[in-house]
Amino acid sequence: MAVETSRASFRRFRPDDAGQVKALVDRTVDTCYDPAYPAEARAFFKQHHSCDSVLEDAGRGLTIVAVAGGEVVGTGTLVDGGIRRVFVAPECQGQGVGGGLMDRLEEEAMGLESIELDASLVSLGFYLHRGYQVVRAASIAVAGGKTLDYFVMRKPARSPQAGSDEQIEDRTPASDGE
Ligand SMILES: CC(C)(COP(=O)(O)OP(=O)(O)OC[C@H]1O[C@@H](n2cnc3c(N)ncnc32)[C@H](O)[C@@H]1OP(=O)(O)O)[C@@H](O)C(=O)NCCC(=O)NCCS
Repeated sequence: MAVETSRASFRRFRPDDAGQVKALVDRTVDTCYDPAYPAEARAFFKQHHSCDSVLEDAGRGLTIVAVAGGEVVGTGTLVDGGIRRVFVAPECQGQGVGGGLMDRLEEEAMGLESIELDASLVSLGFYLHRGYQVVRAASIAVAGGKTLDYFVMRKPARSPQAGSDEQIEDRTPASDGE
């Protein structure tokens, strides 16, 4: 699927986005986590990021979606003091969508002492680039005696004084001009 992301817009998640978010996560895991993760770990990721957990986290925290061409092409969530489920569609990576999601989530986290997240093996460089530091390497035992390895990372949250006035837009798809 070719999507022009230079005009990606960011808005708050709406419950009817859940199916697209779930499909985006599954497709990104299938495409980007092979061969970094064994099939058993990829299955664990997809089960972990269920439609129910997408909806629950969005209800308790703040979920942002990136939209381009009328499609959800990226997502990320701030919940319980941490940033979770940051995924960008494979064909839209490397175009600023992930950075745009993180800018907005970190903006929302202003006032917290620090921001924690779990980084996949393939996203470690992205988070190091954003100033996160590895707190520890971690591992979950999955089926077939395999492991799902990841890194717990943290960085200090920005103080409110250092923040910008940028607001998260909540535009309807029609007003996205797509
Ligand atoms: C990791 C991910 C979210 C990054 O999103 P993206 O849209 O490709 O990232 P961007 O294009 O916004 O990149 C922003 C910056 O990070 C840098 N960057 C992106 N991925 C990087 C990597 N793997 N290593 C080092 N730097 C990276 C870019 O070069 C860019 O730098 P710049 O601002 O100096 O130009 C995306 O690649 C992804 O979804 N990966 C697979 C799923 C995943 O692992 N998600 C994390 C779950 S823990």
